[in-house]
Parts: sequence; structure tokens; C-alpha cells
Amino acid sequence: MLYKLPTLLYSLLVGYSFCNVLSSNPHSVSIIPSAISNDTSIVQYVSDIYGPDAPKVKPIDEPAFSWWYFDVVSDNLESSIDVFFYTTPAVAGDGVHALSVSLSAHFANGTAFNVEALADGATVVTDGGGSSGHFDGTGFRWTSTPDMSLYLVEIDSPALGVNGTISLESVAPGHYPCGPISPGQDMQVGPGLGWSNALPDSKAQVDLTLNGTALSFAGVGYHDQRWAAENYALNFGSWYWGHGHLGPYSIVWYDLLSLNNNLESVSGYAARDNQIITATCNGIKVRPIGENSTYPPGKGTGRPGAFHITLDLAGGEILEVDATPERVIFANSDLYTRWIGRLNGTLAGIDLHYASNIKHKFSNIKCKF
Ligand SMILES: *[C@@H]1O[C@H](CO)[C@@H](O)[C@H](O)[C@H]1NC(C)=O
Ligand SMILES: *[C@@H]1O[C@H](CO)[C@@H](O)[C@H](O)[C@H]1NC(C)=O
Ligand SMILES: *[C@@H]1O[C@H](CO)[C@@H](O)[C@H](O)[C@H]1NC(C)=O
Ligand SMILES: *[C@@H]1O[C@H](CO)[C@@H](O)[C@H](O)[C@H]1NC(C)=O
Ligand SMILES: *[C@@H]1O[C@H](CO)[C@@H](O)[C@H](O)[C@H]1NC(C)=O
Ligand SMILES: *[C@@H]1O[C@H](CO)[C@@H](O)[C@H](O)[C@H]1NC(C)=O
Repeated sequence: MLYKLPTLLYSLLVGYSFCNVLSSNPHSVSIIPSAISNDTSIVQYVSDIYGPDAPKVKPIDEPAFSWWYFDVVSDNLESSIDVFFYTTPAVAGDGVHALSVSLSAHFANGTAFNVEALADGATVVTDGGGSSGHFDGTGFRWTSTPDMSLYLVEIDSPALGVNGTISLESVAPGHYPCGPISPGQDMQVGPGLGWSNALPDSKAQVDLTLNGTALSFAGVGYHDQRWAAENYALNFGSWYWGHGHLGPYSIVWYDLLSLNNNLESVSGYAARDNQIITATCNGIKVRPIGENSTYPPGKGTGRPGAFHITLDLAGGEILEVDATPERVIFANSDLYTRWIGRLNGTLAGIDLHYASNIKHKFSNIKCKF
């Protein structure tokens, strides 16, 4: 079934562009030039009818930070993939380009494969809640169905030695920081940091060839968009973010501290049977536990041993979850770490099935000190 996806999805989207006028789906087309704009970006923080994946920063000026992100962690927690479509001049890094893509993969034996490429331009189309993005000259693109139930990342880059597909079949509805996808919502997960999570949890299949070596696995997939007017890291003291599922629940968490630690912003999400149980910007707390669990973390605190998440589900039930790292997949000294790990926990005191996959991010920003 999933295997048929590439062709099906493509013809659906192509077909759609011809019958566009017959549909009442909101539809938008954004052409993003490769050159950094000299005009100041306008950053959108209140949602509209164009959905979670429409570009929120226009045009892309030199300090702009924004990207579309996809990740998959294998069911056995051994392999992973991260794909970024960046509209962030600081990441492109040459002072000329606004656009770039990157792919970071981990084979089961822990070997990493990282590539990046500058893009000559990009087109992002939204259709209903779904979207497609094509980053010219990179061979990277994504597509989705208008109902956001299926996303497909296709990569064909002889230059990088990467070819293949990542397909993601949604099992949990998208959301904004404080509620479900709908117009008129505040999309800031912390002051000045925009976040839309079109795909909180999915059944994913990765089929890639990386420099001639196959990387194929099934796992848990995720997709979001983040944006800010400038380097978001400068505006926060620390943050904990992650996603995964535990028993029948899909969960996503975000817990940030402002630069001077006096303001905590949070967003918590839980879904079950493809229905949102809670999507709120209160009622969740994430704290480091075990080793190096000083809170708030300081520059020298080191990587936490694990994290504890308390998420208040609607109806007063409390989900208590421990997220325990198993493998570091990215680390920038002790300032920023990304892990694959395990979740276990209880709901209203009852043990949930042990373990599914999480992807977890943590950062501890040094400019604070
Ligand atoms: C921005 O200004 C610089 C300097 O005048 C110029 O070289 C560049 O082409 C301009 N960029 C755009 C996108 O117009
Ligand atoms: C890990 O696996 C990859 C892919 O099969 C292979 O290219 C690499 O040499 C392996 N590394 C080690 C240290 O065995
Ligand atoms: C892919 O292979 C090429 C040619 O051997 C090599 O230069 C490049 O570093 C490889 N890419 C990665 C990410 O290992
Ligand atoms: C790359 O993958 C596409 C399908 O995604 C396929 O049509 C194409 O032949 C592949 N190219 C190579 C060099 O394997
Ligand atoms: C705790 O921090 C120390 C110092 O940075 C580090 O050596 C250690 O590995 C950290 N513990 C964990 C669980 O990462
Ligand atoms: C997770 O499992 C560990 C080890 O069994 C246990 O000590 C801990 O209390 C569990 N966490 C939660 C939130 O249930």
C-alpha cells in the first residue's frame, strides 16, 4: 500500500493543479527566491486559512530563521533520518543564498551520513491543510495530500549520492501550540518562535540509497515547521522538545525558558485513535531527571540523564512519562543535543505499555551567560 504512494500522491497533486478552480480548498503558491532579500521580513504568528505548512516568513531577509522539518526513528530505535528544508540564510552560510536543504541519517551501527546543499529557489504550494515544497537544484521535495493524511519526501540527488523516498502516514491530527489547526490561532510556542505541527505522529517508511548503501526501515515519523525573525537560540535560555508514542497515545512536548529564565512557555499535545485529546499551551511540565538535572540548566550543566513529562489530559487525567535517551544523534558540545530514546509512563497511575520511540531535543544556550 505504502509502496504505491509515490505515484498516487504525485498524480493526485498534479491532477489537482489542473482542477484547482473547481475546489473550495484554500490554495496558495509561494515562490521563494534564492537571493537573500534586502527587504525586512514580515513574520506571521496568527494562523490563517492556508494551514500549518504555508510559509510564515516573507520575504527571507538575512536574519530570518525558518524551516520545514521531517524525522523518522526506526521501530527498533537503531536508525533515524532528519530532513530539513531551510529558508535560513545563516544556515546556507555563504551570505548569498537564503535557501538550503540537509539530510542527516544514522545507520543501525551508529554511523552517520550528513549532507547539505544550497537551493536555487523554492516553490511551496498549499492545498487544503496540506502542502508541497520543491527546492530547486537540490533534488529534494515533499508533497502531501490536502487532508494531511499522507506526506512524501522524495530525494533524487546524484550530486549528494542520495536517492529514494520517505513516506509518512498520519496517525494523529496536526496542531498549533495552543490548539487544533484552525484560523486565528496564536502560533507562538514561545515569544517570537512560531511553530506548527502538521504531523505529530505517523507510520513511516524510509527507503533511501546513501552513496550506494541502502537505508530502509519502518518507524515513527514526524513533521513540523518552525520560524522566527532572527536566530531563535538567542531568545531562549533552554528548551526541551520531543515527540513519540506510548501505548495508544501520540505525544509531543515543548517546554522553553526565556533568556533570563523568568518566563516558561509550554505546549503539550496528546492524541489517541487519530483524535486529539489535548493540544494546549498550559498543563504540561518537562524537567530533566537523573544525572545533570539542575533546573534551570546552566552553561556547564551537561546533558541530562533523562526527562520527566507531566501532561494534564482533558478530564483531569494525568499522563506521567519518562523519556530516556538511548543514543545521541547530534551534539554541539553540551549546548544542544538530540537523542533517540524510549518512553515509559503511567496514566492516572496505571502503567502504559513500555516503550515506543521518541526523538528528543534539548538545548542550553550559551549566550545566556
Ligand atoms: C541587496 O543589496 C545588495 C547591495 O546593494 C545587492 O547586491 C543585492 O543584489 C540586493 N539583493 C536583492 C535580492 O535585490
Ligand atoms: C556501518 O554501516 C554502514 C552502512 O552499511 C557502513 O557503510 C559502515 O561502514 C558501517 N560502519 C561500521 C563502523 O561498521
Ligand atoms: C559519498 O561518496 C563521495 C565519493 O566517495 C564522498 O566524497 C562523500 O564524502 C560521501 N558522502 C558522505 C556523506 O559520506
Ligand atoms: C531515484 O529514485 C527515483 C524514484 O524516487 C527513481 O525514479 C530514479 O530512477 C532513482 N535514480 C537512481 C539514480 O537510482
Ligand atoms: C553529565 O555531564 C557531564 C559533564 O558534562 C558528562 O560528562 C556526562 O556524560 C553527563 N551525563 C550524561 C548522562 O550525559
Ligand atoms: C519508567 O520506568 C522506570 C524503570 O522501571 C521506573 O523507575 C519509572 O518510575 C517509570 N516512569 C514512569 C513515569 O512511570
